[in-house]
Amino acid sequence: MSLKGKYVGVAFTGSFCTYEKVFAQLKKLTEEGAIVQTIFSNSAQTIDSRFGSPKAFLQQAEEITGRKPILTISEAEPIGPQSLLDILVLFPCTGNTIAKLANGITDTPVLMAAKAHLRNNKPLLISVSTNDALGMNMKNIGMLLNAKHIYFIPFGQDNPQKKPNSMIADTELLIPSIESALSGRQYQPVLC
Ligand SMILES: Cc1cc2nc3c(=O)[nH]c(=O)nc-3n(C[C@H](O)[C@H](O)[C@H](O)COP(=O)(O)O)c2cc1C
Repeated sequence: MSLKGKYVGVAFTGSFCTYEKVFAQLKKLTEEGAIVQTIFSNSAQTIDSRFGSPKAFLQQAEEITGRKPILTISEAEPIGPQSLLDILVLFPCTGNTIAKLANGITDTPVLMAAKAHLRNNKPLLISVSTNDALGMNMKNIGMLLNAKHIYFIPFGQDNPQKKPNSMIADTELLIPSIESALSGRQYQPVLC
């Protein structure tokens, strides 16, 4: 399936260590001809860390996509009534956002975008990136794996010896995972 002309939402949450890989894929997405709208969670747009400054990340997102990132709940809300996206990717998705999404909490621009988008029965794709995926958040990941219209970029353990509960998605599989989800299918194998 071609992504040319598809409206793809890419929602950044506060898993900053993945941003380098995420931005590389964001670029590929635009090269495929997708029209990309980024959305930043409150953490993603404010936390300054050893992985970079939020100002630089927001600027990079705008340069790659040619569009200003969505930064507020009120800016994200029209995604629902105006049916603005064909697919929304939580890329990367923290344990915090997974837990809130699984429990119906909508208190960041990213969660508002997810709620608004899902009301239209369109695909939501999750790129897990959290140290508690096999711990406190396993139940929430399980709930989302079993939810209608929600798909996952294949994920697996990234450092079983030092971080036994950590799991991370294979960001290289973003585009095939989007293509599958747009056809209503989970890209397989989901565990890698
Ligand atoms: C430097 C840094 C790196 C972080 N990396 C992760 C991560 O990889 N995965 C994760 O779930 N949380 C991570 N966090 C914690 C989240 O940023 C934090 O839970 C935040 O509340 C997430 O909010 P959000 O889900 O709305 O973006 C990190 C925090 C910092 C400061």
